[in-house]
Amino acid sequence: MKLCKHFSECGGCQFQDKPYKQQLDLKIEKVKDLAVSWEVGARIKPVVYKEEWFYRNKMEFSFADQKGLVCGLYSKKEKRKVVNIEECLIFSKDTQDILETIREFCRAKKYSVYNKYSHKGFLRNLIIRQAKFTKQTMIGLVTGNSQVLDKKEFVKRLLSLKLEMPIKSIYQIINNSFSDAVIFEKKELLYGSSFIEEKLGSYIFRIGIDTFFQVNPRMAVDFYGQIKKYLNLSGKENVLDLFCGVGSIGIFLASGGSQVWGVELSEEIVEKARENAKINNVENISFFACDVRKFLNIKGAPSKDIDVLVINPPRGGLSNKIIRAILRLKPKVIIYSSCNPDSLFRDLKGLTISYSVDFVEPYDFFPHTKHFECLSFLRRS
Ligand SMILES: C[S@@+](CC[C@H](N)C(=O)[O-])C[C@H]1O[C@@H](n2cnc3c(N)ncnc32)[C@H](O)[C@@H]1O
Repeated sequence: MKLCKHFSECGGCQFQDKPYKQQLDLKIEKVKDLAVSWEVGARIKPVVYKEEWFYRNKMEFSFADQKGLVCGLYSKKEKRKVVNIEECLIFSKDTQDILETIREFCRAKKYSVYNKYSHKGFLRNLIIRQAKFTKQTMIGLVTGNSQVLDKKEFVKRLLSLKLEMPIKSIYQIINNSFSDAVIFEKKELLYGSSFIEEKLGSYIFRIGIDTFFQVNPRMAVDFYGQIKKYLNLSGKENVLDLFCGVGSIGIFLASGGSQVWGVELSEEIVEKARENAKINNVENISFFACDVRKFLNIKGAPSKDIDVLVINPPRGGLSNKIIRAILRLKPKVIIYSSCNPDSLFRDLKGLTISYSVDFVEPYDFFPHTKHFECLSFLRRS
């Protein structure tokens, strides 16, 4: 069994020491337990899985000063300790080259490391994104503004690397906030294109440095294909895609001719979704930059007759207000997918007032971790 050299310490993976079959069993058990405890009488399908290594398309590493500069992932053993990552078997074969080059550059330039308690220091995070099918890399160095980045030298060093997935885009992101999360207060393109492109099936998707995109594209392409297969659209349906992100699910579904509306909070992500529809020549889809609750309660759906509702919310799931609005909307079928099975089952329970859950199908989007995605199919009863 392959084991990453950081496994015992790094907080990125929890299950690498378990045979993959056992990991899948643990995930299906979790789904079955939730179905029983929420009394959602759904058929639980077997877990769908694919390549278990080098599947992630995005990583967010942290800088720390631990008797010298390190850059990596938080330790699962020691709070606040960062494990200086030299390989990452769930991300990319390019990990070591990129991280070591950036560490050496930052040490040579004597950049300071941000300390969240004193709110002082320069280096904060490193974002690396890779489009797995098109083999493109995007890099974002997240800093404060207490020092000045030698942008020319930073770009030069990165471009000298011979990577499996060549670099197409380099950013500096300024984040002076107190938050632990990466806040994109200002982003400056230092090299190349403002986006990388991923190809899922026959569609191209543009991914910006701060765009949500499913982290496992090889699994995502099968997942979107399955959604399309389950819905078996005739081309006459009205489809509403809530929390649509860059429009991936909606674009897959629009190809059958059905009219699709996508709703997404972020204006910038909606711009990307519109661009994605345009570059894929999909005309029967429109996007709304709006909070889902407001969209359903105030603006109302663009058409009163929504046949198919697609829901793919953030981990927290749906509020009661959104659930009530969906019950009022009365779509004939609902596809609800989520990366948090706990909130999914809670929400399914709420929807069973008017819907029956045909099945729940887990997808192992995140091998070697405790996480996974679940797709559920609901029919109005
Ligand atoms: C799990 S992602 C789904 C992305 C998309 N369905 C896909 O497969 O790529 C959730 C998306 O919901 C958006 N979002 C979060 N809260 C929202 C809200 N209240 N209203 C509308 N969109 C929201 C996020 O910006 C994010 O793009």
